[in-house]
Amino acid sequence: MASNLTRNCSMAKTVLCVLGTRPEAIKMAPVILALRAAGIRHTVLGTGQHREMLGQALGLFDIQMDHNLDLMQPNQTLASLTSRCLTGIDEVIRSLDPACIVGQGDTTTVFCASLAAFYQRIPFAHVEAGLRSHDLQSPFPEEWNRIAAGRLATLHFAPTDTAREALLREHVPDDDILVTGNTVIDALSSIRDRVTPFRFEGFDRYALITLHRRENFGEPVRAIAGVIRNLAERHPDFGFVWPVHPNPNVDGIVREQLSGLPNVRLTKPLDYAEFLSVFMGCEFALSDSGGVQEEAPTLRKPVLVLREETERPEGVVAGVCRLVGSDPTLILDWTERLISSEEERSAMRRDISPYGDGCSSQRIVASLAQRFLTPNLS
Ligand code: UD1
Ligand code: UDP
Repeated sequence: MASNLTRNCSMAKTVLCVLGTRPEAIKMAPVILALRAAGIRHTVLGTGQHREMLGQALGLFDIQMDHNLDLMQPNQTLASLTSRCLTGIDEVIRSLDPACIVGQGDTTTVFCASLAAFYQRIPFAHVEAGLRSHDLQSPFPEEWNRIAAGRLATLHFAPTDTAREALLREHVPDDDILVTGNTVIDALSSIRDRVTPFRFEGFDRYALITLHRRENFGEPVRAIAGVIRNLAERHPDFGFVWPVHPNPNVDGIVREQLSGLPNVRLTKPLDYAEFLSVFMGCEFALSDSGGVQEEAPTLRKPVLVLREETERPEGVVAGVCRLVGSDPTLILDWTERLISSEEERSAMRRDISPYGDGCSSQRIVASLAQRFLTPNLS
């Protein structure tokens, strides 16, 4: 594929890859690297919806942004971010006139990329298409972002059959959907051999925690941090490692509730290799992250999902992930079980990889090339 494409694409318009947050960087990195390997002309546009975390994630994959809108503001509002993001992406599209635009997931950045593409009648390809909770309030505003991006997309890269079926139910033509697997497994596979499991000095065993969703802001963050405090005091020989999301709605409460406990380590966001090291070394995780749910089966780590629902049912069905929401009693009960019982932990470690085989980005790039870059010979 590579040599033909190199010949075909040297004169071709660029493929514009748009990303803005940490998970988009991690999940788009394999696609960008596959475009690079195939010699396909491409341009990386970072919106800077995230600042430090975007640079941190791209740096690990040796990817530079060709354009950086640098939009992030402390505690930004959705409306202000959305308006600045749409305008910024629109200007870059005007200057580049790309062959197609590729965006990933369900963030404000992907919503704006799909809308900007639509307004300029440029085809939009959606990576991680078809995830649905069927509740616009949860995850908020992500359910809307991915529905809108899907409605405007020309090509849909669904990670699983479940996602494909959701798109078919929305009358997306079957020919416009390709089940690729999730590119996070490509990213994970490319890094994990370089990583050794983290050891928390002084503690043989620990749990990993992450939290950042809007549904958990306020009382739920406080309650979850309170449960971790309670558990840390009950189990002084068991550790807790929490890379704290820099969102002020999370960071302040978590540090206020948990600073000063010897068996709780609060860190800044970790780069992806460091995070995988902590994930690989933990007994289990508590998290409201989408990416963490997808990585868990491959790493054979149980996850208690701090959400009331998930658009990633495959991990729950496989028994690797368990929904516990933000109910303190349920979180306490399940965490106690996983701390105390190897039987409970091993019941949640399954040899299954529902989210992909690590080759998703190759499928995506082949499909982009065939659909948007092959010269029309007719
Ligand atoms: C965003 C996405 C969410 C995704 C998450 C991944 C939307 C609406 N939300 O949520 O879907 O799961 O990213 O982490 O697109 N901040 C920093 N430095 C950074 C990043 C964030 O200081 O590098 C702080 C800033 O104060 C910023 C705030 O976090 O204003 C919120 O960032 P934002 O992107 O709006 O929301 P997230 O909660 O990160
Ligand atoms: N991650 C990371 N460093 C951290 C926390 C998470 O690299 O400190 C990675 C994690 O492995 C996953 C991705 O970031 O691939 C998930 O991002 P996040 O939880 O911010 O967003 P979501 O997946 O919920 O949209």
